[in-house]
Amino acid sequence: MTATILDGNALSAHLRTELAGRVAALTARGVQPCLAVILVGEDPASAVYVRNKVAGCEKTGMRSIKDVYAPDVDPAVVFARIAELNADPAVHGILVQLPLPRHFDSEAVLEAIAPEKDVDGFHAENIGALMQGNPRFIPCTPYGVMKMLEAGHVPLKGAEAVIVGRSNIVGKPMAMLLLAQSCTVTVCHSQSKDLAFHTRRADILVAAVGKAKMITGDMIKPGATVIDVGINRLPDGKLCGDVDFESAKEVAGLITPVPGGVGPMTITMLLTNTLESAERTLK
Ligand code: GUN
Repeated sequence: MTATILDGNALSAHLRTELAGRVAALTARGVQPCLAVILVGEDPASAVYVRNKVAGCEKTGMRSIKDVYAPDVDPAVVFARIAELNADPAVHGILVQLPLPRHFDSEAVLEAIAPEKDVDGFHAENIGALMQGNPRFIPCTPYGVMKMLEAGHVPLKGAEAVIVGRSNIVGKPMAMLLLAQSCTVTVCHSQSKDLAFHTRRADILVAAVGKAKMITGDMIKPGATVIDVGINRLPDGKLCGDVDFESAKEVAGLITPVPGGVGPMTITMLLTNTLESAERTLK
């Protein structure tokens, strides 16, 4: 059996066309959605993500602001800039690219962003709202995964969902979103005993650990939906996910590729959150 591919590029293109229409309509009413992105340091992967986020804004007709700081910048400079962006009514979304250099208190930085402009959905207030089932902004990667499950007509009610990875960015919010759709959710992590025991029970398996090809075909239930959030660079420079695609596709029913799966959806959902934030200013 060979799995059906859940194509994140195609779904993104479709959703971004819809977004562009809404952006044009809002701009015609005098509000052009604007995303401000802050990048500290020279991490090459972060630089690529930020470039793609800014390009995504341009292609859908949104405005973007990109502020890049040296890796040794005084955190006070970044806090002052966030305060400025919080106060600017023309800015609808603010994002600080993670990870930040070690001399930053990342949590304090995320808390400094005005919750109503926190399009990443990382502010404690927004995480709390998500946990209560009443989200203001859904974190972009798990939001993109939910959209892919919807597009693939994957049944969620009562399904066994297993998430590998417990990060604040993906694993934890992913668990909340699947739980809200009445999945039975298991979250595995680096200390889990017998990982394969859990993954083999999954109707929906989400891999978000950042370890190249760690989920192999023998760890997957036949016919399962496999969502690969990992983006890892191999020594030869090629990108690969947390799932060993070659063996997994022989077992899974549906599978996301890397690249071209969850990655483009993350940016599409960031654009969605930014647009919705801008739309709310007229309500
Ligand atoms: N670093 C990795 N993923 C993300 C994300 O979704 N948002 C931000 N701000 N930083 C990240």
